Formats: sequence, structure tokens, C-alpha cells
Amino acid sequence: MAKEKILVIGASGQIGVELTLALRNLYGEENVIASDLREPNQLLKDSGPYVSMDVMNKEMLHVQVIRQNVTQIYLLAAMLSATGEKNPNLAWNLNMQGLLNVLDIAREENLHKVYWPSSIAVFGPTSPKNNCPQQTIIEPTTVYGISKYAGEFWCNYYHQRFGVDVRSIRYPGLISYKSAPGGGTTDYAVEIYNEAIENKKYTCFLEENTYLPMMYMPDAIRGTIELMEAPADKISIRTSYNLSSMSFSPKEIGAEIKKHIPDFTMDYAPDYRQQIANSWPASIDDTVARNDWGWKHEFDLQRMTADMLTNLKK
Ligand code: NAD
Ligand code: SER
Repeated sequence: MAKEKILVIGASGQIGVELTLALRNLYGEENVIASDLREPNQLLKDSGPYVSMDVMNKEMLHVQVIRQNVTQIYLLAAMLSATGEKNPNLAWNLNMQGLLNVLDIAREENLHKVYWPSSIAVFGPTSPKNNCPQQTIIEPTTVYGISKYAGEFWCNYYHQRFGVDVRSIRYPGLISYKSAPGGGTTDYAVEIYNEAIENKKYTCFLEENTYLPMMYMPDAIRGTIELMEAPADKISIRTSYNLSSMSFSPKEIGAEIKKHIPDFTMDYAPDYRQQIANSWPASIDDTVARNDWGWKHEFDLQRMTADMLTNLKK
């Protein structure tokens, strides 16, 4: 493996913590620099280098890339769907300018690779609801979805025009126990496990039959690294890959939790996030990722629930 120095931006977030730990395992602790606006997550402390950084400060980012001999950037700093609807201008600025800063620096410094996640939020109410394909009608109605869709085309542009090797996945809602989610519409599927263990009851902010595409964090981390390690000639999509593993509703996840915690109860108080969820597909077709670079998921709802509850109880 070529000598790589990786900068993870947004490393203290839900994905960043686990991705940074996985990359440190693979490339060596000293070769993966965690960075964020926030303090380093407890799990990242003492496991490798950390720099406090704002991705909006392009000069500072550029200086760090040069000073630390960075060869790859994983850009995870963004504002998610629910928080984004409360602060549309801020979400647009962070999600767009952060990406453009990274792509520009990648081009100028000839970085080996860039990773930037998109989301199922690119799809809108006019996209197919079930098994939503890679290429289809895409008319997002949230500022988050608009920023992700625009970002996908910036990635494609920097690849076509300047040869930047930028790769991307449209993550479904991610479920994890190591670090808390950061303001998404799919966050209920994390909260429900915590509440089930602490209080044996949960009030869900989505209606009981709202199906959304979801994925357990270990699958998402493995998929991300597999995409980044794949030979460049296997990557046919330079916007962003659909990726899928499971789809369920609040009622179904509640029923699965009840198998482990029989006195768990649930009720529903849908809020503004219901409208966001209604605009997204219920399930995703990821045939292209499976064919191009061999993506396979491992976790379904049953296996994830058992693993989440075991780890949260610890
Ligand atoms: P998160 O909100 O948990 O973490 C984002 C991190 O970025 C936070 O630690 C935050 O402090 C940091 N950050 C914010 N502004 C910054 C700035 N200006 N400079 C540096 N750091 C800054 O988000 P996440 O869930 O880990 O998501 C990471 C990426 O994955 C985002 O692009 C998100 O859109 C995408 N994604 C996440 C999910 C999911 O379910 N978690 C699904 C689809 C796509
Ligand atoms: N989990 C994310 C959200 O709900 C999807 O990108 O915003």
C-alpha cells in the first residue's frame, strides 16, 4: 500500500469517529489526522493526531494539508436534513463551500483521493418510492438534498475536468452506538435504542408506517473503505453511489426491540421531519455498487438490533 496521510474533516461526528478509528487501524494511528470544530470525541483521544479546524477557512485547511503532507481527505463536515431545514443558508454555505474548498485544494496539491458522502436525501417526491435506482428523476425538496445533489455534480466535474479521484456514497440513515447522530431525519432509529434501554418507552417523531432506507454503521464504514480501496477502473459513478442494506418503519423497529425488551412501548408524535421523510424513497436499488466494486451488506434489522442492544447495555 502506498504511503498515505489521511485528513478526516468532521471526525467528531457520528460517522467521523468510527471512520477515523477504522482508518487508523488500516493506515496506522499516526497517519490519520482527525479534525473538527468540536473537541475530539473521547474515543479518538490518545489514538492519533488531532487538529482543531474549520473547513470554511480554506487558507488554514490548505496550510494543514501542506504542513502535514496530506495525501487523502475524507470530508464529513456538513449540516444534515433536519438541522438544515432550520438554517437553510447556513446549511447551503457549509455543505457547498466546505466541499469546494476541499476539491480545490485536492486539485492544487494533487491529492491521491478524496471521499465525500452524499445521501438518499438527493431523491425527492418525484423519484421512485421503492427500489429507487441509481439514475432516475431527482428533484430534492430539502436544502440538504439540494446541496448533496449539487455536490455530487461538483465531484463529477472535478473528476472529469481536473482528474481529482473523488469518490462518494449516498448513505441511507445510519445507525450506531459509538457516537450520537447530528440532526438528521433518520436519527429516530438511533434514539429508539437508547430510550428503549433507559426508559423502556419511546415517542417517535415519524409516523409508524414511514419506511426509510437504513444501514448499520459497521456496514457503512466497511463499504466506504472498500469503495476507497477499489481500483479506479472499477468506479463508473463519479457523482455518488446508491448503497443499500435494509428498509424498515418505526413500527417494525419497535417490534424488533420488543423481542429483546418485552415491556418496551412506543407512541408517535410526528413533527416537521415527517414531511422530509415523506419526500424520500422507502428503499434503494444499489445494483451498480454491487456490480462495480462488489458491495455486499452484512446486517439486517434483526442482526443490527441484537448488536445495538448488546453494545448499548455494556
Ligand atoms: P455529524 O453532524 O454527526 O458530524 C459532522 C461533524 O462535522 C461534527 O462533528 C461537526 O462538529 C463537524 N463540523 C461542522 N461544521 C464544521 C466545520 N465548519 N469545520 C469542521 N468541522 C465541522 O454528521 P454525520 O452523521 O457524521 O455525517 C457525516 C457526513 O455523512 C455528512 O456529509 C452527512 O451529510 C453524510 N451522511 C450522514 C448520514 C447519517 O445517517 N449520519 C446519512 C447520509 C449522509
Ligand atoms: N441521516 C441523514 C438525515 O436524516 C440522511 O442523509 O439527514
